[in-house]
Amino acid sequence: MKQLLGAPWLLAHRCMLEPNQPRKFTLLGKDYVLWQNNDGVINALPNACPHMGAMLSEGWCVKKPDGSSVIACPFHALEFDA
Ligand code: FES
Repeated sequence: MKQLLGAPWLLAHRCMLEPNQPRKFTLLGKDYVLWQNNDGVINALPNACPHMGAMLSEGWCVKKPDGSSVIACPFHALEFDA
């Protein structure tokens, strides 16, 4: 199956995500990390850290004072927002 650029795809249902627990999903051969903050906002990024390619889904969420959360890379703990 070929992925159409800009086309919407369902990666996961909200109920599959625990608050502030990153989880890996694969769509058409590409890995993504999804996480949900305490307010129910869902974030998604490619699952490869832009620094050295570690799997962000193996990292952890860091809660911010404004209620949002970012994901921390398991290798060097750099933080990324969505
Ligand atoms: S590999 Fe992710 S911060 Fe270095």
